[in-house]
Amino acid sequence: MLYPWKDEYSVGVSRFDNHHKKLFDIANQLHEMMKSGKGEDVIEPVLRELIDYTKYHLAEEEKTMERIGYSNITSHKRAHVIFTEQLNSAMVEIERGRTTFVVIKVAQTVIDWLIDHIFGIDKKYTAEMNAAGIS
Ligand SMILES: [Fe+2]
Ligand SMILES: [Fe+2]
Repeated sequence: MLYPWKDEYSVGVSRFDNHHKKLFDIANQLHEMMKSGKGEDVIEPVLRELIDYTKYHLAEEEKTMERIGYSNITSHKRAHVIFTEQLNSAMVEIERGRTTFVVIKVAQTVIDWLIDHIFGIDKKYTAEMNAAGIS
């Protein structure tokens, strides 16, 4: 497994930790497929699953941030918008390219972004979520 879940990734909200864990699971599944030389026809549906679940997760985070009146919501949502745009252009790239090379490149980009986002941005909401009784 390339990206094992670590406790240090926790954002202090079990529901979102579970979402993040599922995203890591899909990322690891993708990595295993790429490592064992599976073709884009096998990899692509899993990459789509990763993208769809990411979109679902971003929307759920936003709902909760709105509900508690999170102070950093504007910048957090902006980061989600940028990520969603990247996901959408990734899908366009896959549809245009449809090669193993393109699918692997896109999968890697999505995984890197996820880790950066959890550490750089999601972790900032821990204190306010916990203070609002969400943990
Ligand atoms: Fe987020
Ligand atoms: Fe997140």
